Formats: sequence, C-alpha cells, structure tokens
Amino acid sequence: MIFITFIFSLFVTTTLSEINYQSYALNMHNNLRNKHGAGALTYNARLSEIATSCAGYYAQIGRIDHTCPYKSYLGENLAFFSSTSGPPYVLNSVNDAINGWYVECNDYNYAWPPRSSYGKQVYHFTQMVWKSTTYVGFGVYLHPQTGRTYVVALYEPKGNIIEYGPDAYEWFRGNVTAPGFYG
Ligand SMILES: *[C@@H]1O[C@H](CO)[C@@H](O)[C@H](O)[C@H]1NC(C)=O
Repeated sequence: MIFITFIFSLFVTTTLSEINYQSYALNMHNNLRNKHGAGALTYNARLSEIATSCAGYYAQIGRIDHTCPYKSYLGENLAFFSSTSGPPYVLNSVNDAINGWYVECNDYNYAWPPRSSYGKQVYHFTQMVWKSTTYVGFGVYLHPQTGRTYVVALYEPKGNIIEYGPDAYEWFRGNVTAPGFYG
C-alpha cells in the first residue's frame, strides 16, 4: 500500500509540473509586464510546440545560440541549467530562467534605449515586456545524458526591433516603459 502510494504521488508530481509550467510561465510574464504598463500576453499552443522542439534542438547541440531552425521570425529567450536545484526541475528551471531574464531591467537605460547603462545584456528583459508582443509559448527539455534543463520562450510578434535604424530608438521608448503607475 505504501509502495503504491509512493508510485502514485511520483506520477502526480511529475504530471502536474509538466502541465502547469505553461500557465506558471505565462502568469510570471504577465505580472512582470503589468509593472511596465504592458498588456497581458496570450498563451499560444503552436508557439509552445515550436518552443519544445527548439528546447530539444539546443539540448542536442549543447549550446543556446539562437540557431533553432523552427522558429523563423519569432522572438526568443533562452536559458539552460544543470539540474542541481532539485525537483520539480521543470518549474524551478522556468522560474530561474524568467527571473534571470527579468533581472536585466536593472541595467536597462530607459533614457537612451536600446542601450544598457553598462553595455550589459538587456534584450531578454525588453522582449519580455515589449508592448506590441501579444502571444507567447514555452518549451522545456530535460537532457537525459547531461542532466541539463533547457528553457525556451517564443514571442509573437517579436520585440526588440533594432533593424530599422533611427526608428528603433522610438520603438524601444514606446514599447519598454519604466515600472510605475498606469491608468
Ligand atoms: C512598438 O514596436 C513596434 C514594432 O515591434 C512598432 O511598430 C510600434 O510602433 C512600437 N510602439 C510604440 C508605442 O512605439
């Protein structure tokens, strides 16, 4: 009886974490976006399917270099972790990835976008809170050999539009606003 209960609870724990990480990641994003006056993202299952394929791809090549061939024009945030933080691996990894991306807001220069104040990475943060992005999906892959967990977030339409020269400045100012009070 004890044995059966143990198996059952293992199964339930794994299943719940797999199911819940999508809404968990969506809620984290939307709470953070709200701080910056950005509307809530809508979860998109197709983006999550692509993100899951991309997570497997990055796990296979062993680096996160934004070369996933399935994502084409989508915005993309990436992270990987060695699975040392303990179960539930998926939720912990998703939580750490999103916090790691968001903490870049401390280096973001709202007055002189799209630059950071100290030349540090800020584009994970700006994609997360980019106002004209409306859809998001997530993928996680636990590599059975390396034990690493890969986390992928895909955004549509993509943010961080920097290809358009002078417009980029205004678009960053318009899409990424400082935490504050919004009516
Ligand atoms: C936000 O960025 C999009 C491009 O992603 C641009 O078309 C739009 O004008 C920007 N919004 C503002 C308020 O600047």
